[in-house]
Amino acid sequence: MPSSLSAEQQSDLLRRGFSRRTFGRIATILTAGATLPFYNEHALAQMSKLPSLPADAVKINANENPLGPCAEAVDAVCSAAKQGGRYMWEATDMLAQSLAETLDVKFSRRSEESYLEIFPGSSAPLHQAVLAFCLKDRPFVKADPGYEAGEMAAKYAGAKVINVPLKSGTYDHDVKAMLAAAPDAGLFYVCNPNNPTGTVTSRSDIEYLVANKPQGSVVMIDEAYIHFSESAVPCTDMASSGKDVVILRTFSKLYGMAGLRAGAAIARPDLLQKVTQWSAGAMPITAMYAANASLKVKSLVTERRKYMTGIREDTFRWLAAKNVEFIPSETNCFMINVKRPGRDFAKDMAAQNVLIGRSWPVWPNWIRVSVGTKDEMLKFREAFAKSYSA
Ligand SMILES: Cc1ncc(COP(=O)(O)O)c(C=O)c1O
Repeated sequence: MPSSLSAEQQSDLLRRGFSRRTFGRIATILTAGATLPFYNEHALAQMSKLPSLPADAVKINANENPLGPCAEAVDAVCSAAKQGGRYMWEATDMLAQSLAETLDVKFSRRSEESYLEIFPGSSAPLHQAVLAFCLKDRPFVKADPGYEAGEMAAKYAGAKVINVPLKSGTYDHDVKAMLAAAPDAGLFYVCNPNNPTGTVTSRSDIEYLVANKPQGSVVMIDEAYIHFSESAVPCTDMASSGKDVVILRTFSKLYGMAGLRAGAAIARPDLLQKVTQWSAGAMPITAMYAANASLKVKSLVTERRKYMTGIREDTFRWLAAKNVEFIPSETNCFMINVKRPGRDFAKDMAAQNVLIGRSWPVWPNWIRVSVGTKDEMLKFREAFAKSYSA
């Protein structure tokens, strides 16, 4: 058995329902150090170590939704808070059932039959899927530039990370290059639309990846930003039809609930059980009720998409008129070529109380900007015009 766990640790794990097959991975994680570091947008944004800003600063750095939760969700939070002394697993089941109906997948309280599991956001299932499917000899494959959280989990678990450049010009995932790069992959990660570029990978390319991936590997499709996009095609039905996929959904983006915490993983029951084996604890009931209330507002996705798209496209027109290079995005974030180190540019913007996103090592002169309110984007324009020189 590939494990450095003591006999005592092994019998304890067996008692707690872990299979012997997981011992190697658990040993790696225990050897690697203390607690598993969890990264999300906020943690990654903090890593850029910008000075602290006044309360009225424009925060367009972490792909949050400036509108916050909808009014119905806020009401639901207030009523739910009174019951906050209870664990209330039934609130989680209620949300799971509503989301399953919205996505047309099967939810069951019996985990061996369920295709959907609720989490406090999508960071946890993202990390847990990496731990479940990547090993020392089963790499994690992702696009570059792409969302880095899974990469950090893979490194922590001792799995190799393979970064495959986005296609030039269209900036969608190069699925053929991803396949060629890793015939022994544990997990292929496709963020659709992609963070940070906001670009969409076609359904046919994702199907190609799933159909041609090596046996035993899994494709994880992160649909955190899918509600903002007109053209991205959801892949939740691929889970229902039994494919080797894990789909991630979150209420942090369009639904404006990043601080309330609700999300989900959708997958075939056997794959989902591998992801949930690392889960612990109850869900925040305020978030369960808020997410459920948000799903009931049928016009919300369309209205919020329209609102955000209008502001983003206005900003693009302004940038284009100034001959600033940017990548047309379908989400609430986009990349701009600032023609000098992005980190320095972001510091200049922060000095004017406008906090923008980070740069990616592969594109050091590009920075990511999240879409704020109309007023916030006017302040962004003012600060940008002072910081940018052609
Ligand atoms: C692509 C992507 N996936 C997942 C997450 C995790 O977000 P949360 O845990 O709030 O759902 C983020 C956060 O920004 C993200 O950009």
